Amino acid sequence: MPALVLVGAQWGDEGKGKATDLLGGSVDYVVRYQGGNNAGHTVVVGDQKYALHLLPSGILSPNCVPVIGNGVVIDPAVLLSELAGLQDRGVDTSKLLISGNAHLITPYHRTLDKVSERFLGKRKIGTTGRGIGPSYADKINRIGIRVQDLFDESILRQKVDAALNEKNQILVKLYNRRAMPAELVVEEYLGYADKLRPFVADTALILNQALEDGKVVLMEGGQGTLLDVDHGTYPFVTSSNPTSGGACTGTGIGPTKIDRVIGILKAYTTRVGSGPFPTELFDEDGEALRRIGGERGVTTGRDRRCGWFDAPIARYATRINGLTDIFLTKLDVLTGWEQIPVCVAYDVDGTRVDEVPHSQSDFHHAKPIYEMLPGWSEDITKAQTFEDLPKNAQDYVKALEELSRCRISAIGVGPGRTETIQVHSLL
Ligand code: GDP
Ligand code: IMO
Ligand code: MG
Repeated sequence: MPALVLVGAQWGDEGKGKATDLLGGSVDYVVRYQGGNNAGHTVVVGDQKYALHLLPSGILSPNCVPVIGNGVVIDPAVLLSELAGLQDRGVDTSKLLISGNAHLITPYHRTLDKVSERFLGKRKIGTTGRGIGPSYADKINRIGIRVQDLFDESILRQKVDAALNEKNQILVKLYNRRAMPAELVVEEYLGYADKLRPFVADTALILNQALEDGKVVLMEGGQGTLLDVDHGTYPFVTSSNPTSGGACTGTGIGPTKIDRVIGILKAYTTRVGSGPFPTELFDEDGEALRRIGGERGVTTGRDRRCGWFDAPIARYATRINGLTDIFLTKLDVLTGWEQIPVCVAYDVDGTRVDEVPHSQSDFHHAKPIYEMLPGWSEDITKAQTFEDLPKNAQDYVKALEELSRCRISAIGVGPGRTETIQVHSLL
């Protein structure tokens, strides 16, 4: 089973980090294919907890080569400090590979992210403020700076000059901010060149050769399906393609090479930032999910919005990503509810709608239609097989599997690596 893609099936924070780490011991390469340090992936290994932002979660598995693909946007200062933090904790980071085609986040991207959000006022997206959107905008606008530009001083200077010629006008005239001297940016970024050089490689070539040699490559998405710039709840999305198609463009691995697409799906729903969220709860159940599930952002420390499981969204993720398997996470968080509501369809202005509405206005009006499933009170965190789960928890999983139209191959019953039930092999 050489090439696998792992995607978030909801609005991010489904537990992708844990799932990647779990598979990391059995794969040869783990590649991040999009996003940047807007991601926050928590991995718990024994009594150690790691928060990864830019590095693929495979970095914690000693035999796995971690790769940052061409589709990622890299803030070099963040990358270097994340590497140093892991090295201090005894993690071997020397095998890391970085695509020379990946784009860089610069100080002007971070500033523009913050000021443009302020400018939007009530209509703000609630970004992570890390400069992700402005960096991708420059990439598409063909004025971005790439990792390989760090190694050619004259090209770097030309490109930063060209970008800042325009951006300084915007910063000064539109946002009333100080202009950013190009020279300062160039000096800072030239300082990263030697530190990053040992990691930079033609990652698309290396990964394709690895696949030809029968090696296993796992492509790890950041964010989630509903945050995809094409398929998500636009404009309340991130500026890249977390869905499985993004794995091809963001790594240089062709679609015919991909064998499996694993969707990471939380047993309930969360979202950070603005935008529609039909099953969002504003009552004590929402508060309880937040508390029991520890639903606080790893990157920005913001409380996550919480709600019940939304089946039309799960079906949408199955469809858009071509999921072959689902890894259902955080089932343990639902222990203790007498009955668990599951959204099976929406009421849109009086009409029942079974799938995610195509029209944004309709989605904003979508009210969940719930079915009540019986809950369980037994502790399930020690369960190792499906049969170890109480009958009602088994039935909850089976119902979600049927509603999602994709088989559930693994079930998370706790944050640790071993707190996982494997129903079907993922490799
Ligand atoms: P990611 O962004 O998709 O990697 O997810 P985050 O790390 O942002 O958020 C998921 C949180 O849930 C992390 O704190 C994980 O340690 C935790 N987690 C993952 N799987 C499980 C699970 O099955 N049960 C519980 N209780 N926690 C989990
Ligand atoms: P992981 O990988 C949850 C959200 C932000 C905001 C929107 C756009 O941990 O699942 P951006 O900074 O990307 O321009 O913000 O996307 N967002 C995430 N929400 N998990 C993430 O990553 C996210 N990355 C971005 O909150 O609503
Ligand atoms: Mg996260």
